Amino acid sequence: MRVYFDNAATTAMDDRVIEAMLPYMKLHYGNPSSVHSHGREVRSAVEKARKKVAELINASPSEIFFTSGGTEADNTAIVCGIETHGIKHAITSPIEHHAVLHTLEECAKKGKIKLSLLDVNQKGEINLDQLEGLLKANPNSFVSLMHANNEIGNINDLNAIGNLAKTYGAFFHSDTVQTMGHYVHDLKTLPVDALVAGGHKFHGPKGSGFLYVRKDKKIHPFIHGGAQERNMRGGTENVIGIIGIAKALELAYEDMDGHRSHIESLKKRFIGLLKENIPGVAFNGLSGDLDRSLYTVLNVSLPPSEENRGMLLFNLDLQGISASGGSACSSGATVGSHVLRALGHDPERESVRFSFSRFNTLEEIDYTVEKLRELYTVSV
Ligand SMILES: Cc1ncc(COP(=O)(O)O)c(C=O)c1O
Repeated sequence: MRVYFDNAATTAMDDRVIEAMLPYMKLHYGNPSSVHSHGREVRSAVEKARKKVAELINASPSEIFFTSGGTEADNTAIVCGIETHGIKHAITSPIEHHAVLHTLEECAKKGKIKLSLLDVNQKGEINLDQLEGLLKANPNSFVSLMHANNEIGNINDLNAIGNLAKTYGAFFHSDTVQTMGHYVHDLKTLPVDALVAGGHKFHGPKGSGFLYVRKDKKIHPFIHGGAQERNMRGGTENVIGIIGIAKALELAYEDMDGHRSHIESLKKRFIGLLKENIPGVAFNGLSGDLDRSLYTVLNVSLPPSEENRGMLLFNLDLQGISASGGSACSSGATVGSHVLRALGHDPERESVRFSFSRFNTLEEIDYTVEKLRELYTVSV
C-alpha cells in the first residue's frame, strides 16, 4: 500500500483542475498582453479567473494579484508593505513559515525595520496582550501572523489580531497558505490587509498563487518589468497556473463542508487509534485539539525508541507511507524543525507531521497506525 500523508507540503491535483488547464496548454496559447484575438481570449480567461477568486473570498478583483505561489506573495506583502507605508517596526512569531520569517529577518538585517518576535508557549500559542503592548509602543507597525501553522496546525484568531492591528494603525499581513481552500475567508468582514495563497495546497498546480491586498492599503510592486497584474508584477502571466488555481479554489468552496467532515473523521480516527495503540504518544502544538487546529494536520510526538531514533520517517517510507518531519523544505534535513524547537520539544522523541486531504481514506489511517504499532512494538 502507498499512502500519501504529506498534504501540507503539497496535494495531488484534482482531475477537473487539469481538464480546465488543458485548453490553455493546447489551444489558447496567446500572450494575454497581446491585443490580437489570440491574446484577447487568454486575457479574458485570466480576468475571469481573477473575478472568480475575488468572488469566492468576497474581495474585489482589483485586490487580487496572481503570483508564483505563497512564498512570492508573502515576500511581496512584507517587503512592499513595509516600504510603501514607511514602516519601521514589524512583529511576527518564531513559528512562522520561513517565507515570512526569513523575509522579515532580511528586512531587519538591511536596517529597514526593527523586528519583534512574540513569545510562544509549549503549545505554540501566542499572547495577544504582548502583541497589544508592542503595537501600543510602536505606532505604524507591520504585523505578520499566519492563519494556521503548517507544522503543528495551530489556528490563530485573525479577527482578534486584525482588530488589534486596526486599533493601533498597523498593517496586518497573514500567511493563509494552509487555510486557503480549506476554510472560508470573507474579506468583507475579516480585518486583514493582505493575505496569500498557494494553489498546490488545495489540489491546484504548483507554481501558482495569489496575493490579496486591501484597496485602501495599496503597495508597490515587488517584481518590476511589464505592466502585467496592473503594474504590480512584471512578467508574462502563468496562464495555466492562474486557470488552475481559480478552478481549484472553486472546487474547494463547492463542497468545503463535505471535504472537511471527511478529513476530520480521518483525523479523529487517527488520534483515537494512536492513543489506543502507542503508549506514551502525544501531539505537538494544538494539533491534537480538533477545535483549535487545522483538520488537515496532525503532528505526532512518539516516545523515545532506539530503533526509530532519526529513522522514523525512513521506516515509514519503507512501508510506503509518505509523511514529513516538518515543512517540506526542512524534511530530510538534519537541522530539525524551527517550529518544534521554539516549542521546547524534547529531541529524544520523534515527531512526524501527518497531513490529510479529501483523497485520503480510513483504510490508509488504519494501515498507518498498524505500521506505527509494529515499529513501536519492536522497540518496547
Ligand atoms: C504556511 C506556509 N507559507 C508559505 C508556504 C510557501 O508556499 P509556496 O510553496 O506556494 O511558495 C507554505 C508551503 O509550504 C506554507 O505552508
